[in-house]
Amino acid sequence: MPKPKKHVFVCVQNRPPGHPRGSCMQSGSAAVLEAFSKQFQARNLFEQFALSNTGCLGPCSGPHVLVYPEGVMYGQVKAEDVESIVEEHLLNDQPVERLMLPPEIW
Ligand code: FES
Repeated sequence: MPKPKKHVFVCVQNRPPGHPRGSCMQSGSAAVLEAFSKQFQARNLFEQFALSNTGCLGPCSGPHVLVYPEGVMYGQVKAEDVESIVEEHLLNDQPVERLMLPPEIW
């Protein structure tokens, strides 16, 4: 596999209901991961970009998505935001500012 241009990590960490930190899975990250997967398939992106699910990334105000090599972290991502991340960030190198975590968190 050639080195990807960008690597998208979607947090799918789960914790029990009522856990003080919550979790991205409880916030709906499964739908976000599915939306990325559909976008990657529909646009045939797997040859240029990588998509991985991952455990906790730290902030836990998810769903969180982390994109490297820029190290941009998105928070409270919804399935309907995924097309913007793919279109603007992956394909046009313009991170989606409205979804980025503030610098004091990441
Ligand atoms: S549970 Fe997703 S960042 Fe912690």
